[in-house]
Amino acid sequence: MIRHFLRDDDLTPTEQSEVLDLAAELKKDRFAKRPFEGPQSVAVIFEKPSLRTRISFEAGIAELGGHPVIIDAQTTHFGRGESIADAARVLSRYVRAVVIRSHADARVAELAAASSVPVVNALTDGFHPCQILADLLTVRERLGGTAGRTLTFVGDGANNMAHSYLVGGATAGMHVRIGSPEGFDPDPAVVARAAEIARATGGSVATLRDPAEAVAGADVVAADAWTSMGQEGDGKDRLTPFRPYQVNEDLMRGAAGDAIVLHCLPAHRGEEITDAVMDGPASAVFDEAENRLHAQKALLTWLVTA
Ligand code: CP
Ligand code: NVA
Repeated sequence: MIRHFLRDDDLTPTEQSEVLDLAAELKKDRFAKRPFEGPQSVAVIFEKPSLRTRISFEAGIAELGGHPVIIDAQTTHFGRGESIADAARVLSRYVRAVVIRSHADARVAELAAASSVPVVNALTDGFHPCQILADLLTVRERLGGTAGRTLTFVGDGANNMAHSYLVGGATAGMHVRIGSPEGFDPDPAVVARAAEIARATGGSVATLRDPAEAVAGADVVAADAWTSMGQEGDGKDRLTPFRPYQVNEDLMRGAAGDAIVLHCLPAHRGEEITDAVMDGPASAVFDEAENRLHAQKALLTWLVTA
C-alpha cells in the first residue's frame, strides 16, 4: 500500500515516533540513508512561495542520493488548469515521490488519490505536517521528549500551523492549547480529531480565548504569521484582533521557566513575535528551521521503505 503524508494523522503515534527517531539518526549521520540512490527523482511542486521548504527538500533529496525536480507551478500546466489527477498519473511515471505545496487540501488529496507514488503535503491551507515533524524533533532535543508536555500556539487558530499542532501534537502525546481571537478558531472537525487522538496518547487539546491563560505554564510557545499565504488581499483586519496574542517577553513570563519558543518562519518581527523573544534564550527557531531538513529526509525515507 502506498503511504502518503497529507495530514499529521497520516502517521500513527508509533510511526511518528519512528520517523522522529530516524530524523535524529540522520541529523547525527547525514548520509546514513540513501533510499533514492540511482539517482531516483523526487518532484517538489510549489503553488505558493517558499524558502525553507524548497531548500530543505532540495538539499535533503540530494543527500538521500536522489535528484530533486523543483517545479514552480506557474511555469507548468499545473498553474493553468491541467487536471490534477492526470498530472499525478504522469508524474508517477517519472518520479519516486511527489512533494507539493498548494492551496486547498482537497487538491492535494485528489493528487494523492491518483498517484502511484507517495505524496507529501509541504503546506496547504489546512495543514503543515512537515513543519510539525521538525517542531517535534526540536521539542525532543530541547525538552527530552514530547509526551505530557504542554504546547501553546497563539495567533490564527484557523490556520495550517494551528491545525497541524493540534493533530500532530496530540499524536505525540502533548497537551495542545490554541489561543486565538474570536473569528479565528480552529476547524471544529480538526479539534475533534485531535481530541480523539489525544484520548489514546494521553495528551489533550484545549481552545482558549485569553492568551495569558493559554500560555500559563506552557513548555512550548509557538507563533506564526497573522496573515497566511493567500490571505493577503482578503480585506480582513488582523492586526487589531491579533495584537494581544503577540509573543513578547510579557506573555512569556507566564510560561514555564524553561519554556522554548517556536516559529515556523518567516517571522514578521514586531507583529506576532518581538525581536527580544526571537533572539532571546528561549528561542529555538533556527534549530527548528534546520530540523526541517532532517525530519523531511526521515519522512521520505520512511515513506518509500514502509
Ligand atoms: N516554514 C516554512 O514552511 O517556510 P517556507 O514558507 O519558507 O518554506
Ligand atoms: N501559516 C503560514 C505558514 C508559513 C510557513 C502560511 O500558510 O503562510
